[in-house]
Amino acid sequence: MSEFPLHKVPDNFQDAHINAEQYREMYRRSIDDPAAFWAEQAEQFLTWDKRWDRVVEADFTQGKAEWFGGGKLNVSVNCIDRHLPARADQTAFIWEGDDPADSKHIAYAELKDAVCRLANALRERGVKKGDRVCIYMPMIPEAAYAMLACARIGAIHSVVFGGFSPEALKDRILDSDCRTVITADEGLRGGKRVPLKANTDAALAHCPNVHTCLVVRRTGGDIAWQEGRDTWYHEATEGASTDCEPESMDAEDPLFILYTSGSTGKPKGVLHTTAGYLLQSALTFKYTFDYREGEVYWCTADVGWVTGHTYIVYGPLANGAISLMFEGVPTYPDAGRCWEVVDKHQVATFYTAPTAIRALHAVGDEPVKRASRASLRLLGTVGEPINPEAWEWYYTVVGDSRCPIVDTWWQTETGAHMITPLPGATDLKPGSASFPVFGVNLALLNEDGSEIEGPGAGYLVVKSPWPSQIRSVYGDHQRLIDTYFSAYPGYYFTGDGASRDEDGYYWITGRVDDVLNVSGHRMGTAEVESALVLHDKIAEAAVVGFPHDIKGQGIYCYVTPMAGVEPSDELRKELIDLCVKEIGPIAKPDVIQWAPGLPKTRSGKIMRRILRKIAENELENLGDTSTLADPTVVDHLVENRAS
Ligand code: WT7
Repeated sequence: MSEFPLHKVPDNFQDAHINAEQYREMYRRSIDDPAAFWAEQAEQFLTWDKRWDRVVEADFTQGKAEWFGGGKLNVSVNCIDRHLPARADQTAFIWEGDDPADSKHIAYAELKDAVCRLANALRERGVKKGDRVCIYMPMIPEAAYAMLACARIGAIHSVVFGGFSPEALKDRILDSDCRTVITADEGLRGGKRVPLKANTDAALAHCPNVHTCLVVRRTGGDIAWQEGRDTWYHEATEGASTDCEPESMDAEDPLFILYTSGSTGKPKGVLHTTAGYLLQSALTFKYTFDYREGEVYWCTADVGWVTGHTYIVYGPLANGAISLMFEGVPTYPDAGRCWEVVDKHQVATFYTAPTAIRALHAVGDEPVKRASRASLRLLGTVGEPINPEAWEWYYTVVGDSRCPIVDTWWQTETGAHMITPLPGATDLKPGSASFPVFGVNLALLNEDGSEIEGPGAGYLVVKSPWPSQIRSVYGDHQRLIDTYFSAYPGYYFTGDGASRDEDGYYWITGRVDDVLNVSGHRMGTAEVESALVLHDKIAEAAVVGFPHDIKGQGIYCYVTPMAGVEPSDELRKELIDLCVKEIGPIAKPDVIQWAPGLPKTRSGKIMRRILRKIAENELENLGDTSTLADPTVVDHLVENRAS
């Protein structure tokens, strides 16, 4: 499948936690007897207030799964308190600021104090078990404190990425009825300020139920203040006790909500619960990254995405690891920043997105070679397929041909890694996420729902429950069933296509639904379309993805103006601004093509297949257009294709 060579497990991973034989044996056991396998893992990885009564009970037709029913535990205790006897003075987080002169270490004991103070401050404001708390923060330690403080008192956090617009923030606050918001005056990214508090104010103008807005002072910039509602974080926490009784949670009590885009409608609040989520996060962190005591591990994601939840905060801390949190961007002050940080903090594991690798690759080798990178042992990628060219550059130049790369496939909905190489067990094929994680029972389906045996390509599905699976769509369980469990009854439908080669390696080919992956950010075409048609001069819009060298996918919009409206560059700019305002900068269209008409079937359904081909410039390959209501619209779109 790839012209690139296989990379064997290197010598320095021969003593990894899991070797090839152990992987095969443990994987087999995890599928043959999941209850016994996961009970053992739950014993080993988690500390329980009360042992569970039943390991797993699930019904995929109802989208239901219960893991460790009857068990009790607290996530913050598992991530902090239980490490204190051995690791009070060990660093939990290394924080590297946007400004290279700014960094600090937070020890486990300090983390405990900070989390407890905030947890007490929240309790004092009436926040209790089951309440939803929205976290809209820059990448500063307080973001992690906020998540863990919620976990400590049993509140459900909903982290909203700091790059989202006030509009998007408002929708998410309202959907889960968050009544407390934690934010900062401003964020700092690549030397630029992000007006988080101003965005929050704009959102909260439409959220009458929010009684408390805690504000971290990050930049000291000017902000508006609403007496009664707004409180400085430092004032609320400075007098608070550093002890806070943790809420003993049921294994299936919700831990967090995280919104993600689907092919239809508004983003969904993916609900994750306590024990199963933490267990798979902890296990995959240890084995995928072959984490060794005392090593520095760096995941460049933002805590606003699931990668930040699972692999900056919960997975690393559950293992007592040292997790580096980076406030800035890989290209500031210049394209050598990541490697400079690797040397500065002696990073052993570096985990990032293919889009970042491609962007850095484009700048050339010099910024990489400026740094020694001798501390690096392992590299990782996540979020989208990695093209073998980018993989090889990452491997040979960044990793000096001595660091394995773990290409981890998973989703917001899966909570933790599902397909990934294990560095001591898996010979690597560039571009392949390789093999399933323990307990993950995969299949590839044909269009008709039949399972493909052996090598082949089809829809990627999961056949049986896994601990960190999505439990519900917040407030709309039916939507969970409709989205994931109805397409092929009895299976969880991932929305991805994949192939499996003769050696059993999985190769993810990308989404098979109307979901885009732009720089590793997931976005529904429907969301962008809804934003475009808000403009009163626009009648209709259809959005598709097209291949983009750096972003993986770019956003291509076909837009039909109202009758009598002349398309203009000014209108184009207004539309771009509208998408940014409604969703955020990540939704900025790359191409807007004026379309007097869209290709539709006689029943009025837009033929996206054709629009995708035109956007991809595959004009010989448009397929059958005879079923269209008006085939001439295609000719017009082809002739006026924006290039
Ligand atoms: C979608 C999930 C999971 C963390 C970040 C994204 C794509 C994710 C890979 C990979 C190929 C990947 C899939 C998936 N994806 N990882 N290693 N190789 N594709 O989470 O926003 O929920 O997006 O990202 O299409 O369905 P997300």
